[in-house]
Amino acid sequence: MEIRFLTFGAACLMSCGGPAGETYDGRPMEELLSSLTLEQKVNIVMGTRRGEANPPEEAPGMPARHSHAAIEEISQGRIKGAAADGYSIDSLHIPSVIYADGPAGLRISPRRDGTTRTFYCTAFPTGTSLAASWDVHSVERMAAAIGEEVLEYGVDILLAPALNIHRNPLCGRNFEYYSEDPLLAGEMAAAYTKGVQSRGVGVSLKHFAVNNQETLRNGIDVQLSERALREIYLRGFERVVRKASPWTIMSSYNKINGVLASENTRLLSDILRGEWGFEGVVMTDWWAEENGARQQAAGNDLLMPGTQRQYDEILEGLRNGSLPEELLDRNVSRILKMIEKTPSFRGYACTNAPDLRSHGALSRRQAADGMVLLENRDATLPLAPGLRIALFGNAGYDTFVGGTGSGNVNRQYTVHIDEGLGNAGFTVDRQLAERYTSYIARQKSRNEAATFWAIPEIGEMPLTEEEVSRALSGNDLAIVVLSRMAGEGGDRQLRAGDYYLTATERSNLSLILHAAHSAGKRAVLLLNMGGIVEFDWSEPDFFDAVLHVWLPGQEAGNAVSDVLSGACTPSGKLPFTWAVRYEDYPSASNFPLSAGTDRAVRYEEDIYVGYRHFDTRGVRVLYPFGYGLSYTEFAYSDLGVERTDEGLDVHLAVRNAGRYPGREVVQIYVSTPSTVEDRPKKELKAFAKTDPLAPGESCVVRLSIPDSDLAIYDEDAGRWRVCAGRYLVHAAASVSDVRATVQVDIAQ
Ligand code: BGC
Repeated sequence: MEIRFLTFGAACLMSCGGPAGETYDGRPMEELLSSLTLEQKVNIVMGTRRGEANPPEEAPGMPARHSHAAIEEISQGRIKGAAADGYSIDSLHIPSVIYADGPAGLRISPRRDGTTRTFYCTAFPTGTSLAASWDVHSVERMAAAIGEEVLEYGVDILLAPALNIHRNPLCGRNFEYYSEDPLLAGEMAAAYTKGVQSRGVGVSLKHFAVNNQETLRNGIDVQLSERALREIYLRGFERVVRKASPWTIMSSYNKINGVLASENTRLLSDILRGEWGFEGVVMTDWWAEENGARQQAAGNDLLMPGTQRQYDEILEGLRNGSLPEELLDRNVSRILKMIEKTPSFRGYACTNAPDLRSHGALSRRQAADGMVLLENRDATLPLAPGLRIALFGNAGYDTFVGGTGSGNVNRQYTVHIDEGLGNAGFTVDRQLAERYTSYIARQKSRNEAATFWAIPEIGEMPLTEEEVSRALSGNDLAIVVLSRMAGEGGDRQLRAGDYYLTATERSNLSLILHAAHSAGKRAVLLLNMGGIVEFDWSEPDFFDAVLHVWLPGQEAGNAVSDVLSGACTPSGKLPFTWAVRYEDYPSASNFPLSAGTDRAVRYEEDIYVGYRHFDTRGVRVLYPFGYGLSYTEFAYSDLGVERTDEGLDVHLAVRNAGRYPGREVVQIYVSTPSTVEDRPKKELKAFAKTDPLAPGESCVVRLSIPDSDLAIYDEDAGRWRVCAGRYLVHAAASVSDVRATVQVDIAQ
């Protein structure tokens, strides 16, 4: 059936930024649009509405009746396990475009009916681990490998990178996100976008915007100032749009100051397109089905995966005039222009054979580069070759490689930590290994099976004093792995076993520390989690070395061993602040909801997120933003800053002053003139990771800071402004470890 409503003339199309002058497949866009029925147009602005018929599910924050889990198993659609298919019209050469998650690697089903062939993808380290490497070049290389998997498995658009700010350490999806700082997060997401898109496939930068928690994610109203919105929550997105031109952007589920992100004309049209020049497609997050017509009118071009209700609402909007047809045409033409770039349109014959072996090697290197050495007393690490290790902790034998939800990857294998240690020539105590593996197998058989939303928790195996002393007396040192899982659909909890340690964990750690130290042996702690736990550790004894290994992807054990053995000198630094107590985080009293409200989250901390709060107000932290040790040491010298027409040019020399080869992450913070009120003490404005430096070797680091990055958002004037005055430029090894400062004057 063909449905037609009143159409507007070409003049109106032009004035609305419509498709006049544009083409699709060599044909004028207007001509193509006029050959489409209204029904076809409405179909083009949504996915093929897969998942609608799936059984209800109980996932926090998800509307009932739609199911990600069912997508996993769904056999319809061109690529099994992809998140959605687009609408196709063969006669007009409009192919069905395939959209699939996600940030740590391509997420599709590894098996398909009718073939014994497998379609595994590489599980790369998760977002926070990437950010902890502070290495935009390696992240871009890694993302190019993800792009290759996307291309060769027949997918067009990857639903990544995920760029929301770590506002609070309990956000369940922080592991997918990069940092508390918009510059670091934006640089990572830009590198990731460039890497994936270099393979001729697209990304969907998500979740736009201010999606900083999972609790009630479909319903919360985030209330924040324009300044916080611009300076903290949008700044990273702007960076990616300007530097890397993502093909698509995914709007978020939440409201921002009362208006749903997916229906937000100001966000999606005025700011994103008008101010930043975004030319791609905006899509909704999955089943963000508030009102199809309003979403379309706001510039949310594509409704994913689309539902019958949205379809009907669009038609009703066209009928009652709330959605002018030229706006629908505008959205259709944007989608068609994107489709033209896809492998599906080009008729690319995918091989289903990406180079998984080399991608595994890349995943291993990237994971090792992101690990953060937090403690290393008396040079406990690196370990001497061939040591005998008493390995404690479930995750030593069942290592977490990624989180749950759409960020999970169906990988071919996992190198657990015990296996990685063995591969590196260490010996893992066999008796302990047997105890742990049979304990884990027993617990798993009692637990429910892992689902899309959750991997059922297995409490730490309680240890006895005897077995710990036996293990320590027969081995050279203790390594303990402490782990936490998190994922989409729920936030982490302030409870023992999540943010806090359990009684069993405390008792195990005490026993191990005591046994190790009384036998004159060292104890090393590995943290296998996307974020942090609270160490309210009152005992005098602590671990000799602590290494944060994150959720490091499928090569976890090998990457951990590379760092422990010294094959790779640790060079990661924290992309967030680790507070002493949860209550010290400035968002603590407004997470996940503000007191007395059922839907509002007031961002009362304003721009003082993370180190902007701790550093400015002198609040003591456990580990500061940007902190991380190395096996070697670095000396900074000759810091110089020049004012140019575009901004500031910064240069300094870095020398490896220690005994191991290594790489340093140099951070440049800037303090705005003291005449400007209500500003953070200093803010990250540039960073660089050196190439490997041999002991005694130096290099010169050069960085540019454009004026746009020095600007602050002037709410009264409604624009960005570079304040005149005296700026302080700091070269630092972390926000709390400033090595040199120079001043520079910026005139009006
Ligand atoms: C998530 C997105 C994801 C999409 C498709 C949503 O629930 O929030 O990040 O890309 O599902 O799986």
